[in-house]
Amino acid sequence: MMEKISDKIRYVGVNDIDKELFEGLWPLPFGVSYNSYLVIDEKVALIDTVEGGFEDEFMANIKNEIGDRKIDFLVINHMEPDHSSLISFIKEAYPDVTIITNAKAVPMIKGYQNCGIDNIHIVAEGDRLSLGSCELQFFMTPMVHWPETMVTWLASEGTLFSGDAFGTFGALTESLKDGFEYFCDEMTRYYSNIVGKYGTPVQTALKKLSALDIKRICSTHGPVWENEIADVVRHYDRLSRYEAEHGVCIVYGSMYGNTAAAAMELAESLERIGVPYALHDLAGNNEDSLGISGALRDTFRFDTIAVGSPTYNNGIFPPVETFMRAVASRLVKNRRFYAFGSYTWSGVSVRKLNEMAQELGFEIINEGGSFAQAYSTQKLDLKPVAELMKNRT
Ligand code: FEO
Repeated sequence: MMEKISDKIRYVGVNDIDKELFEGLWPLPFGVSYNSYLVIDEKVALIDTVEGGFEDEFMANIKNEIGDRKIDFLVINHMEPDHSSLISFIKEAYPDVTIITNAKAVPMIKGYQNCGIDNIHIVAEGDRLSLGSCELQFFMTPMVHWPETMVTWLASEGTLFSGDAFGTFGALTESLKDGFEYFCDEMTRYYSNIVGKYGTPVQTALKKLSALDIKRICSTHGPVWENEIADVVRHYDRLSRYEAEHGVCIVYGSMYGNTAAAAMELAESLERIGVPYALHDLAGNNEDSLGISGALRDTFRFDTIAVGSPTYNNGIFPPVETFMRAVASRLVKNRRFYAFGSYTWSGVSVRKLNEMAQELGFEIINEGGSFAQAYSTQKLDLKPVAELMKNRT
């Protein structure tokens, strides 16, 4: 049984340690939690539901907290199915429940849940809902990270039910609360993979929420934040402003090991001069690789990106091109860029990578390293490149 958050607030979410790919795309080596909360007062409110497949555990968690009491209100902060899949299930179990959500969510409820949209109370910016001795208040946070997203504020406890905001990959551990150091990498990966495109809406939401005296954040993924709120908010603030630490994210794909050899040599050169780096092989040659998911995490983490691709079909090696498009779709800014890679008869990949980087406004640190055939016979002079990367932006 999970620890109690407070007398009024109880955790009724679930850990998912079986799902391999979140959204069908993003690996979950440490699992993920789908968080749901009860606010228990004269009326009982359930804040969000959980992913389908957890009906029994979810209901057992609810019953464990409220027994045979009914749920009066189901607050839907966000309609992505990892949180909304069990709306119909809750409506069946508690037929008198009133759904509390905003107007943009209503057609999504109908579309996803194929359930009647009777007994819905639509709220708008700043609206309040009394539960008896306390009240919930609602603030719209559009595009964090869907258009209908909102957050729920319980002022009497300084508690923000924040939806995906301040969430992280990684199943909950024994402690329900805090653990920023443990979750930090998975929070960065979650942010970069899922929310990364929406830096501007996240900044807007952060400014709006800064007016609240937040003492507790109950997100839909990961721990409840109490003692590390400043760390978590600062981290989301930095990520959504595309602020990076000094270091190099080396991302490459390789067909026969030659572009990989250049990537390794660049990593060794950086290591020798003490520049932090991360190495990501996108061609599936490393069983532990997080693929594009991990590469995006470190693209958000570091101020320099080094991308290696052989020339393939007169273009960029497909997994590397997919990575670059993923970076572009997240509107990543303020990065330095270096391209390298092998070719056999016509070197195209480095030029095309540079063109993509230029479109993103990245600072291209030099023309890049293109080499013909085997790396062992055509080595790049990577020491000066590593030295350039040592310079801080
Ligand atoms: Fe965790 Fe956007 O859903």
